Amino acid sequence: MKLRGTTLLGVLILGIFLLSAFHQTLYTPPTTPATELAVASDTLKKDPDTGLVIDDNLMMVKAQCTSCHSPKLISQNRFTRDGWRQKIRWMQANHNLWDLGDTEKVVLDYLEKYYAPSQSYSRRAPLTNIEWYPLKLK
Ligand code: HEC
Repeated sequence: MKLRGTTLLGVLILGIFLLSAFHQTLYTPPTTPATELAVASDTLKKDPDTGLVIDDNLMMVKAQCTSCHSPKLISQNRFTRDGWRQKIRWMQANHNLWDLGDTEKVVLDYLEKYYAPSQSYSRRAPLTNIEWYPLKLK
């Protein structure tokens, strides 16, 4: 009886030891490095010249927004439509940016679509049309 208890304890300790020793190899936690995440969430095609997302409106953005500074100032930033409009106003007030006229809407559409705050690390959109069902207990 005494021996069996000791053996059992020994097996238990050995088990715990092996488990902790091989824990790393057996179980790799499902974490994704931040860099991979960024790439995965950012699968849109980029224009090789500017690094900006390819879109029908890109030409207009290139024409209006890349003559004074690097397009990186755009791609590195995330603003709401209002935020982008304020940046444009700020450049118009301080840096001789011209009146964009009708093209301002096109440029803002583009910026809002691809360089809005939620785009960079967004989680999936909330589910819709869920068919809920009552849990049957018993
Ligand atoms: C007439 C020149 C000019 C044009 C055209 C221009 N910008 Fe700028 N922009 C500037 C200057 C100057 C700065 C300040 C650069 C710096 O700080 O090094 C700037 C800075 C910025 C910044 C950084 C703002 C910040 O808060 O740091 C963003 C974003 C930006 N521009 C976006 C745009 C967009 C979008 C367009 C197209 C609508 C545009 N720019 C067109 C001159 C211009």
